[in-house]
This record gives sequence, C-alpha cells and structure tokens, in this order.
Amino acid sequence: MAPWIWTDSLSVKIEPIDNQHKKLIIAINALEQAMEDNESKGILTKLIAALKAYTDKHFSYEEEFLIKNSYPDIKEHQIKHREIIDQVLYYEKKLEQEENYLIDFEMLDFLKNWLLSHIMVEDMKYSKFLVDKDLQ
Ligand SMILES: [Fe+2]
Repeated sequence: MAPWIWTDSLSVKIEPIDNQHKKLIIAINALEQAMEDNESKGILTKLIAALKAYTDKHFSYEEEFLIKNSYPDIKEHQIKHREIIDQVLYYEKKLEQEENYLIDFEMLDFLKNWLLSHIMVEDMKYSKFLVDKDLQ
C-alpha cells in the first residue's frame, strides 16, 4: 500500500504536535513497509515497540499541553489515548505470544484508521478550542 502522507488537513495548528503526528505516521509507514517486505519477526517486534514508545511519549506531551491550556475535555481525551495504547499493546502481545503470527494487515489498517480518526476527530476538538481561545 502507498505510504500514508501527512497533509495540512491533519494540522492541529500547534507546531510541536503536528511534528509529532508526522513522526507517528512515519513510524506506522515503517511498520507497514517492513510487513510488505516480509521482514523478520524480530524487526517487526522492534518497530512495534518503537511505535508504542513514541505514541506514549506523544500522548503524554499532548495531555500535559492540554492540561496547561485548561482544555475542558481532557479526561475524555485521555480515555481515547488509553484505548489506542491498549490496541498497540494487544498487537504487541499477539506478536510475542503467537509463534506463527507475523503479518496482519487488517490489524495495521485498524491501527492506522484509529490514529487517523483520532487526529481528525478528537485532536481537532482541542485544536478548535485552543484556536478559539487564542482569538479571544
Ligand atoms: Fe490526542
């Protein structure tokens, strides 16, 4: 599949967060490429661990930023983040436990769509809140 490309429509108008979203997309593309190239389980495991670590770091940054800016729906947003992390953990565990499990594009698509819809729906909510707040 063609790599996922960041476009302006994904911008939350906060530069460091946009940059982190771009890196997340790169991490997902790297994982997809490795799957397509039939890379070893060891490499896939490393890429998923990297994606999980980066997602964790990004979510922490985002949550701290939202708390600092008094975003009212922070709790709801944190729950959504947790759901995504759980999904990555589930995938990681599956890879670790099932000996013959190597490639699951359905799962990758699921993860991709989930992240994309998170940015487009949930992150856009705080983006709008912060842009409106700044304009006041
Ligand atoms: Fe978020």
